[in-house]
Amino acid sequence: MITSIRTRVAIVGAGPAGLILSHLLADAGIESIVIDQRSRDEIEHTIRAGILEQGTVDLLTAIDPNTRVHTIGDRHDGIELRFQGEGHRIDFPGLVGRSVWLYPQHEVLKDMLRLRLGAGQDLRFGVTASRVEDVESERPRVFATTADGEELTIEADFVVGADGSRSVVRPAITGDSRSGYFREYPFAWFGILTEAPPSAEELIYSNSRNGFALISQRSPEVQRMYFQCAPDADPNALTEEQIWETLQSRVPGTTLKEGPIFQRDVLRFRSFVAHELRHGRAALVGDAAHTVPPTGAKGMNLAIADVVLLARALRALLNESDERPIDGYAEQASRRIWKAQHFSWWMTSMLHTAPDASDFDHLRQAGELRSVVESEAGRTFLAEAYTGWPIG
Ligand code: DHB
Repeated sequence: MITSIRTRVAIVGAGPAGLILSHLLADAGIESIVIDQRSRDEIEHTIRAGILEQGTVDLLTAIDPNTRVHTIGDRHDGIELRFQGEGHRIDFPGLVGRSVWLYPQHEVLKDMLRLRLGAGQDLRFGVTASRVEDVESERPRVFATTADGEELTIEADFVVGADGSRSVVRPAITGDSRSGYFREYPFAWFGILTEAPPSAEELIYSNSRNGFALISQRSPEVQRMYFQCAPDADPNALTEEQIWETLQSRVPGTTLKEGPIFQRDVLRFRSFVAHELRHGRAALVGDAAHTVPPTGAKGMNLAIADVVLLARALRALLNESDERPIDGYAEQASRRIWKAQHFSWWMTSMLHTAPDASDFDHLRQAGELRSVVESEAGRTFLAEAYTGWPIG
């Protein structure tokens, strides 16, 4: 049986981008349907990054003044860059008058799911989109299959691909799913969650001769830490003792507080921007449009900035028949996307050790880090990008 449904905006993907877009559209009186192939439970429990920019927090607060970002989230007014055995603090409010919040992505998702379902949003889990057609017409369609195997066709005024790096919407926009600007890196992150008290009050980004490490947090009882590893590393190949030994060796000057490790994963590094972000009546946002390496935590924040722009453009298109903002969407979104690409690439290359690094490379890297931390202009550049450029 084939069920056909009609809506104004079909959103593929119930991650932060898709859910926030559905909220902003509803605010403008525009009905949407959100589908996701995952279950609600899977969406709410996948561990992702944890840093929200000031602008992201301002938006989440405007969406829900009682957002838990301000209760269980933790404001961070700085980070530490560590190299050659010394720590250097970057003071965000002192430099740019802004901060960031440590509030994990899955908590944002729990909040947004509760809010959207409470508002009566048509949100369907376990629905797998297979393709998008007719984006050059005014009635683009999404073809999908429900968890029960039922075929579903969603006909809309506009289709949004918020469906992550393996987007099925992307080919309808770029012509083929791999069409984009790409960069690979010769390393990855080994990430752990450990039951232990925090080892430091703020995040430590540490460049060491043996490779990079990041000491982050989740709560007073749970900490998140990462260390640079080979791209093909097996997360189960190391003992807990080996993991702690590696981490300790990469943050000289701090004795990490160790505890049981209850999750481990390897995060791939790549930079990607799709050649096209919009074609006819379809557009891409978030990881469907671009991927950044994790250093600097730009991924989710960038997705949310895309969505703010797209929501404005769809409001003009669908409520006022004004096509100018949607015609300008790709160009305008690209400006921020490439700044974020640059920042993520820069933090990555400045802090990690390339497998073939020479003594010259190590010393040049220390010189680069020193130029940043010893200059107010350098620290301000970093703080401005880390806390996020104004949205929109
Ligand atoms: C975290 C991840 C990042 O990529 C980063 O730059 C900072 C923090 C995190 O998961 O806590």
